[in-house]
Amino acid sequence: MTSSPIRIALLGFGTVGMGAYRMLADNREAISTKIGRDIEIVRIGIRDPAKDRTAPPDLFTADLESVVVDPSVHVILELMGGIDPAVSLIERALRSGKHVVTANKELMAKQGARLVGLASSLGLDLHFEAAVGGGIPLIQPMKHQLAGNDVLKLMGILNGTTNYILTRMSEDGSDLKTALAEAQEKGYAEADPTADVDAFDPQYKLAILASVAFHGEVAPEGVHREGIRGISARDIELAHLMGYRIKLLGIVEPAGSGRVLARVHPTFLPKGHPLAGVNDVYNAVWIRGDFVGDVMFSGKGAGGDPTASAVIGDLIDVGRTLVAGGSGSAIPVVGRIEMAPIEELRTAYYVRLIVEDRPKVLGEIAMAFGEHEVGLAAMEMRTLDVERGEIAFLTHVCVEKGFKAALGLIEGLSVVRSIESWIRVES
Ligand code: NAP
Ligand code: HSE
Repeated sequence: MTSSPIRIALLGFGTVGMGAYRMLADNREAISTKIGRDIEIVRIGIRDPAKDRTAPPDLFTADLESVVVDPSVHVILELMGGIDPAVSLIERALRSGKHVVTANKELMAKQGARLVGLASSLGLDLHFEAAVGGGIPLIQPMKHQLAGNDVLKLMGILNGTTNYILTRMSEDGSDLKTALAEAQEKGYAEADPTADVDAFDPQYKLAILASVAFHGEVAPEGVHREGIRGISARDIELAHLMGYRIKLLGIVEPAGSGRVLARVHPTFLPKGHPLAGVNDVYNAVWIRGDFVGDVMFSGKGAGGDPTASAVIGDLIDVGRTLVAGGSGSAIPVVGRIEMAPIEELRTAYYVRLIVEDRPKVLGEIAMAFGEHEVGLAAMEMRTLDVERGEIAFLTHVCVEKGFKAALGLIEGLSVVRSIESWIRVES
C-alpha cells in the first residue's frame, strides 16, 4: 500500500472510544488490507486532559474544535455521546469535508434526519451502525439487503442494561439496584443509567430503527415509552408460571393510513418466541418483511468491544468510499412519518390485583372488563391472608383504550384493594 494513510480522529476515549482504539491497533493490518489503504489514528479529543490514558499522550487534546477542522483528518469517529457539543462538532466535521461515524443514538434519534441530509448534500458518509444494538449488524442490512421489503412488524430487545437486569431478576432473584450496579461495572449502562432503566435509550434506538424501516423521520417523542421500574419479582414469577418471560421490547408496525405505531415497554413474551431466549447483555431484533419473511439479528448489545466492532465496520465502509473515490452513501430520509397513538393498540394484557377475599369478587371484575369488550383468557389466584387475595388475569386481544377504561372501573370497585401491575402481552 503506497498511498498515504487514511487519517482518523476520535472524539471520546471512554468505553467505546478505547474499544475502537484497541481494535484498530490489534487488527490494523487486516483492516488496512480490507480497505486497500493504511489507516492511522492521529488525534483523540477528550474532556479531561489530566486522566491517565492507554494511548500515547501526544494524541490527546481537549480542543475538540481543532480536531474537526484539522485539514489532515479524513474521518471523525464521534464516540463521546450527548447532544452538545457532539452535534456542532459533527456539523463542523461534515462542513470541513470529513466523513463521520457515530455511536450516538440520542443524537441520531433527535437530529439524525437533518444530519444525514447534510452529509448527503455534501456527498459524505454519516454512518451510525453502533447507535443501535451494539455490535449487531442491523442498520446496514436494513438499509441495503432488506430495503426492498415492506416491513410488517419489527420487535427488538434494544437495551443491554435492562435485559441484563431482567435476566438477573428472573434467574437469581436479584433486585433492580444490585443488577444495575453490575451492568454499570461491566460498562453497559449509559453515563446516566436512568436512560436505560426508564427506557429513553431504547426509545431513541426504536426511533432510529423505525426511521430506517419505514424510510421517514420518526421523532423519539412519537415512540410510546415505559421503563422497567414497575416490574416486581412476583410479576416475573407469575409470567414464568403462565408460560412467558418479561422482556423490555421495542415494537413498531404499520397502523393504517400511512401511519406507524411505535412503543417501548415491558412485555410478556411466550417462552417459545425467538426473542424470549435472548438474555443478559444480548440484544436481538426480529423483523417480518413481506418478501423475506421472518429474520432475526442478535448479538451483544452493549460494551466497548462489541460496539467498537460496529464502529470499525462503518469506518471500513468509509475507507472504501475514500479509496474508490466515491461521493458517500448516506441515504436521505424522506419526510416525517405520522405516528398512531398507543390508545389504538390492539394487544392482550396481564393484570394483577389485590382484592377482598370474599364471594362475588370475580363476577364484579369480569363484568367491568366485559363492559369495555375485554375478554378474559386465563387466571391465577391465591389467598394472601384472612382478608385479601391476589388475582392475575391474562386477557384476550382488545383495544388499549377499552382496556384502560376497564381498569378505571376496576380501580373503583369496593372489592378491589389495588391494581398492582399490568403488562402488555405479545402472542
Ligand atoms: P463514556 O465511557 O462516558 O466516554 C465518553 C468519552 O467522551 C470520554 O472519553 C469523555 O472524555 C468524552 N467526552 C464526553 N463529553 C465530552 C465533552 N463535552 N468534551 C470532550 N470530551 C467529552 O461513554 P461510552 O459508553 O464510551 O459511550 C460513547 C457513545 O457511544 C455514547 O453516545 C453512547 O450512547 C454510545 N454507545 C455506548 C455503548 C456502550 O456499551 N457503552 C454502546 C453503543 C453506543 P473524558 O475521558 O475526558 O471523560
Ligand atoms: N446503555 C446501552 C445499553 C448501551 O445498555 O444497551 C448500548 O447502546
